Amino acid sequence: MSSEIVAIDGPAGSGKSTVARALATHLGWSVLDTGAMYRALTSEALFSGLDPSDEDAVAELARNARITTLPRVNINGRDVHDDIRSDAVNVAVSTIAANPAVRTAMVERQRAIARHEPGGLVVEGRDITTVVFPDALVKVFLTASLDERARRRGEEGGASVARRDHADASRVASPLRRADDALALDTTELSVDQVVEEIVRCLKNITSN
Ligand code: DC
Repeated sequence: MSSEIVAIDGPAGSGKSTVARALATHLGWSVLDTGAMYRALTSEALFSGLDPSDEDAVAELARNARITTLPRVNINGRDVHDDIRSDAVNVAVSTIAANPAVRTAMVERQRAIARHEPGGLVVEGRDITTVVFPDALVKVFLTASLDERARRRGEEGGASVARRDHADASRVASPLRRADDALALDTTELSVDQVVEEIVRCLKNITSN
């Protein structure tokens, strides 16, 4: 397994994907967007005519699907890079991400990706610091005000972001929460570079000790 992992969690619009990509570029590491994996699975479930709340059928799909996120998001040979941002996927993804058997299958895949990664890996999602890689070199929890997160997602009022926040934080299986030893950063007023700098500083402290 790649022994060099930076794990980043946080709610929608907190800057995870942007920061993870910028950090990976800075370090020359790979990046894994686990939200894109749940979104790809949701796109495929809808494409296959499954009811997102049919836990057994969606779990079966999760166990058998071939998912890649780079260079474009693809599931079972279908390019879903654009579809994973559609309204239909936005609405259904929380239901699918709350399915415990789906989460088990996804966590296994994420760990397998890390095992095969020869270099360092920046992984971002909702349960990366708490469940998937609790022993990551650095664990980061990003937040930002609801207004700012809605603005970043191009939404008026933030109702949809707030709905997903609630679903992600209140589900029984691996709810979004900050790990006790995660570095908490409020990105509302910070630039991407400032956030990356802060994480790199933390990483240097750890690796030089
Ligand atoms: O980060 P995102 O908005 O692309 O995530 C999409 C959905 O997937 C969101 O409802 C949270 C969920 N998710 C999750 O439950 N666990 C992860 N590790 C990543 C995303």
